[in-house]
Amino acid sequence: MHNKIDLDKIDINVKPPTEEPARQYYFMAKCREWVREFEQKNGHCPCFFIQTFGCQMNAHDSEKLRGILLQAGLTEEKSEACDFVLYNTCTVRDNANQKVYGHLGYLQTLKKKNPHMKIALCGCMMQENTAVERIRKSYPFVDLIFGTHNIFKLAELFYVCQTSGPMVVDVWESGDAAVEKLPSRRKYAFKSGINIMYGCNNFCSYCIVPYVRGRERSREPEEILSEIRALACDGVKEIMLLGQNVNSYGKTLKNPVSFAWLLRQAAQVAGIERIRFMTSHPKDLSDELIEAMRDCPKVCRHLHLPLQSGSSRILKIMNRRYTKEQYLELVGKIRQAIPDISLTTDIIVGFPGETEEDFLETLDVVEKVRYDSAFTFVYSKRAGTPAAVMENQVPEAVVKERFDRLLRQVQQIASQVCMRDAGAIQQVLVECENDHQKGYVSGRLGNNLLVHFPGEASLIGKLVSVKLTEAKGFYYIGRMTEKD
Ligand code: SAH
Ligand code: SF4
Ligand code: F3S
Repeated sequence: MHNKIDLDKIDINVKPPTEEPARQYYFMAKCREWVREFEQKNGHCPCFFIQTFGCQMNAHDSEKLRGILLQAGLTEEKSEACDFVLYNTCTVRDNANQKVYGHLGYLQTLKKKNPHMKIALCGCMMQENTAVERIRKSYPFVDLIFGTHNIFKLAELFYVCQTSGPMVVDVWESGDAAVEKLPSRRKYAFKSGINIMYGCNNFCSYCIVPYVRGRERSREPEEILSEIRALACDGVKEIMLLGQNVNSYGKTLKNPVSFAWLLRQAAQVAGIERIRFMTSHPKDLSDELIEAMRDCPKVCRHLHLPLQSGSSRILKIMNRRYTKEQYLELVGKIRQAIPDISLTTDIIVGFPGETEEDFLETLDVVEKVRYDSAFTFVYSKRAGTPAAVMENQVPEAVVKERFDRLLRQVQQIASQVCMRDAGAIQQVLVECENDHQKGYVSGRLGNNLLVHFPGEASLIGKLVSVKLTEAKGFYYIGRMTEKD
């Protein structure tokens, strides 16, 4: 959504207001003036580039960051050769951090060529003191650092960073109130993420997210629903409700509501044709939610249900609060209510103390559930989490061997499961023209699989009926058809 804000009405010669979001509008207007001066001096409009690392939540935050910079009058570019480069970072596994450090070296060479260039880092990794200290010491050419709790402040921080000398660091320990009514610019015209809650209270023993995203906070349902209505008016067909554990949505509100209730309300918004959500924690997945999914045809027949491990012993140490048996029982219940559902999952290999027997339990769940796809991760030690100080960390070679076995099994099953709809006619939301084959477009099925079929660019953003003529392993080739 792109909220219409009239920045010309703001007097930027007085002191900034203290309340939000008025303060940020004031700084957007200040930035606009700065942009005009920059343009006069340098002969081009200052441009920016945002790179997102990590999950859907971060990607959605980046849309807000883009919205603010566009509102401030900057133009967007597709590469780092820019006047303002912003990395929205992730720290869920160490390789996410290493990627950022790697990119910083490259940014330094670009900065040497462009004296106007400013480099900014935000997001989850910046919530860790050790990362910020390392950047201060080893990457002093970075101009601005902020965290996950104050992304709404980008206009102000950008202005301060442009008008002051040394590195600006503004990282908050926590943030209770999310500031509403700020601009945001979607990546796609026809689909959008929506935050329904922030943070996480689960403290799975391997996971850094609760430390960098703070405690669980649900947004008021009215705010969420009016955002969905506005998106629908703006032409959005598909929404994804976002939270680290959507199944516990609404429990801590002054007037508590359930996620299932929210889903039913969202399904009533005219114009919205597909609803997805991410992520579901198995321990909180209620019968009420299964019924809501079953009853609402707009809710996609797809559920991402992270398993993490198939061993009840490991699950206990992970603090996941379900057993292998409870997980399988839940899957059985879901499949009974919604037989055509696609299930996907996340699995960690090599959690401290994982034995061959534990690992075989994971393979057993994969065999029994038959996932459409699974994200498989090598356990990564995150400083500050309980698992990081557990003894008996599993040797790298053992983890690698298990990881390869798991991946093979996941892929073999997925290649069979994914293609079960060959020959069927299904609804596809068209996303883009096909890069590889002229005259083709690409879109997604309700279960998120890709379909390529002959069609024109005018179909982008439309839901069309497609016969899935050829199964290609992890995608389909299709043909548009009249019948549904
Ligand atoms: N809230 C979501 C997960 C968010 S993180 C949930 O509970 O399902 C996404 C995935 O990253 C997790 O599901 C987990 O599989 C993986 N992950 C988290 N911490 C990890 C770590 N320390 N090492 C390896 N993988 C990890
Ligand atoms: Fe991390 Fe667990 Fe929270 Fe997911 S539920 S974000 S894995 S602590
Ligand atoms: Fe990464 Fe933060 Fe998401 S740590 S996975 S970007 S919540």
